[in-house]
Amino acid sequence: MARRTKAPAKGADTEGEKPDEAAAAEDTVVEPIEIPEDCVFIGKSVKPEYILLKLANRHGLITGATGTGKTVTLQGLAEAFSDAGVPVFCADVKGDLSGVAAMGKEKGWIKERAAMIGYDVKFSAHPVIFWDLFGELGHPVRTTVSELGPLMLSRLMDLSEAQEGVMNIAFRIADEEELPLLDLKDLQSLLENLAARAKDLTTKYGTVGKRSIGAIQRQLLVLEQQGGDYFFGEPALDVGKDLMRTDDEGRGYIGVLAADKLMQSPRLYGTFLLFLLSELFEELPEIGDPEKPKLVFFFDEAHLLFRDAPKALLEKVEQVVRLIRSKGVGVYFVTQNPRDVPDTVSRQLGNRVQHALRAFTPAEQKAVKSAAETFRPNPELDTEQMIMSMGIGEALVSSLDEKGQPSMVQHTFVKPPSSQVGPIVLKERKAIMAKDPVAGVYDDVVDRESAHEILQKRTKERAKLAAEREAAEEKAKGKSKTAKKSGGSRGDSFWTALGKTVVRTGVPMVTRVLEDAIRRNVLGGHSRRR
Ligand SMILES: Nc1ncnc2c1ncn2[C@@H]1O[C@H](COP(=O)(O)OP(=O)(O)OP(=O)(O)O)[C@@H](O)[C@H]1O
Ligand SMILES: [Mg+2]
Repeated sequence: MARRTKAPAKGADTEGEKPDEAAAAEDTVVEPIEIPEDCVFIGKSVKPEYILLKLANRHGLITGATGTGKTVTLQGLAEAFSDAGVPVFCADVKGDLSGVAAMGKEKGWIKERAAMIGYDVKFSAHPVIFWDLFGELGHPVRTTVSELGPLMLSRLMDLSEAQEGVMNIAFRIADEEELPLLDLKDLQSLLENLAARAKDLTTKYGTVGKRSIGAIQRQLLVLEQQGGDYFFGEPALDVGKDLMRTDDEGRGYIGVLAADKLMQSPRLYGTFLLFLLSELFEELPEIGDPEKPKLVFFFDEAHLLFRDAPKALLEKVEQVVRLIRSKGVGVYFVTQNPRDVPDTVSRQLGNRVQHALRAFTPAEQKAVKSAAETFRPNPELDTEQMIMSMGIGEALVSSLDEKGQPSMVQHTFVKPPSSQVGPIVLKERKAIMAKDPVAGVYDDVVDRESAHEILQKRTKERAKLAAEREAAEEKAKGKSKTAKKSGGSRGDSFWTALGKTVVRTGVPMVTRVLEDAIRRNVLGGHSRRR
């Protein structure tokens, strides 16, 4: 059954309207638009344009130059998915998406556009969970170092291949020696420990260069300054649960990630969103093609993920995007230029909304041409020309039809959102956060025993055992050679030397001296305590 919407009365509030659209709205009596069930409405061309819910997991792409209406399009799609009971996750790069949590108002261009396409806007606020890596504008989002894994961590820290090799070894050792890597100090302690054992480890695992470890440690400090400290730790975000919630009315929660501050660390931003996708991929069961998606994920400013990304990472993105579809997750990339998305990924994006692009320079003209070529041509439409001439809130749309084929490209007037366009104020945000389903779950960090504490303990334990052994040896010696006068025990001199070293170089050296001693069999081997 089709949903029927009624066209607003003529003589609408004309505040802020654009003259040509206003004229169109005044002159023509627009038939109320008929929107089929089981779809997400985008806007109107010569017909309603929409994404079929059952094909919404075939991913999508929203592109367009700055100020052409991408965020409004994204907002309209997000709330329509939410209304259809599909949870959504999106990054809010400029803060303006937060408005999705508040009811929209009937005024200006909204009324005008609605009248123009014969669409009845049902103003409403949507259920939102705010997230923020820094824990200021939303609930903190954390993960552990080990969950992120060596590949993404290396990308995050911009490591060289050799350094990445060392990082892989570090993770392997942490695994073998049961050292949980939760936060950055765990990784820092592990690296210190590895530096002390570098020679031994090299024999066993391949090159573990002290220089590489030093470089990683320095990058770790940079990451810490960028906010990595907030990001790593526990409780880690339960993506399978808290990104996939629906409210009492069956509407999907829209997870809105505050990304304005995060964008200042583009690498952290890109890696974090990719991490969320991989987590979802790992956690969610295979379901094939569902009636509607389990989650729709909007990846705004997607060029930040792809720019300068090493091949291994690109392969990972391509793989996750390809495979996550059958877990019921639709990924929608949002970016200014369609060429920001590599071909291997772009090919998988079935539902496309292309807002206007500028074409002043030859490079821009080339971009327009290649954007036009991604669409199934429409004999009635000069795609290339249209990309350059469309107005704000207009877009070329092609989505997958019932057979899963891309529909013919159409020049579409995008619907206005039903929620507020523009940001909500901090007070409103806090009030929503206090009542949402994750209130109090993630707000405080929990620091349980992990690699840092365990390594510290092990070092102490070794020192204690060493001291006991020394004492026992001395005692035995004393018994057998009671007549011989000693000029100070080996243990004494060892501890004196160690003491000096500690004073001179600080605690990490203790580990190194002890490890050295172990290697030289001064202290003897013993089992490690966990
Ligand atoms: N569907 C629409 N109908 C009419 N006007 C629109 C529509 N979409 C957007 N606009 C107008 O254009 C403005 C800018 O839109 P929006 O913020 O979505 O652009 P953007 O492409 O996200 O820009 P940026 O790249 O700077 O983030 C809106 O505030 C609104 O006034
Ligand atoms: Mg925007």
